[in-house]
Amino acid sequence: MRPVIIAANWKMNTTPADAGELARTIAGRTREADVVRVICPPSVCLAAVRDAVVGEGIGVGAQNVHHELAGAYTGEVSAPMLAGLATWVILGHSERRRDAGETDALIGRKLGRAVEAGLRPILCVGELLDEREAGRAVDVVRAQLAGALAGHDPDTLRAAGLVIAYEPVWAIGTGRTASGADASAMADAIRAALRDAGWGSAADDVPVLYGGSATSGNIAEFLAEPAIDGALVGGASLKPDEMAGMVGRAAITAAARRAADA
Ligand code: PGA
Repeated sequence: MRPVIIAANWKMNTTPADAGELARTIAGRTREADVVRVICPPSVCLAAVRDAVVGEGIGVGAQNVHHELAGAYTGEVSAPMLAGLATWVILGHSERRRDAGETDALIGRKLGRAVEAGLRPILCVGELLDEREAGRAVDVVRAQLAGALAGHDPDTLRAAGLVIAYEPVWAIGTGRTASGADASAMADAIRAALRDAGWGSAADDVPVLYGGSATSGNIAEFLAEPAIDGALVGGASLKPDEMAGMVGRAAITAAARRAADA
């Protein structure tokens, strides 16, 4: 039975002065035992969020990690530096692919660092609008996966709890979403790609999240799809009411899965 996960990507929002209070408010409004909750604040806010959610069972994640362990990389944060601050990490977000020129191969190296450091990776994939319109969405996502996962042992990644977030780039921050059916079809394609890459039936255990303008108002469409295991949420994740609505809906799916599994 796969978990149901709601992961908050706060992006470049909040400060160390206000992140703790926001995290505490969200924690208090989202206490659903069966839902895996993760908050990924800016790196300078990790300590504040960690301290704010002690005892809440909420995972704290970084939004990126460097592909080297240490050295002359001004402004960067390495995986070992996150020890004690984060237990999750987002990798390959489309904004980093776009703004920092991250390639699939580089993201693959980050993935290795994350796993070595015991961080649970959320690997982001997703196509651009013109790629979808050209009918190439699945090919693009397959290539992103192949590039990032190349050379990684499936058993190691599975043990690290690898999560894939399908985030169509045209849906991020636009108010436009994929349909539940399209997201589900992509989740199937992602697991098929993993099977083809040597994962075998372990591909079925990998959680696949949807991301891109997810809100409390549309999350049900995604959580109704058995192939989708939750959401990676940007804008709406900064709003406690929205988080309460999304985690509340996720709890319904989690309970249904538990009942079906019993
Ligand atoms: P959004 O961002 O929910 O604001 O579209 C999602 C993401 O980029 O992870």
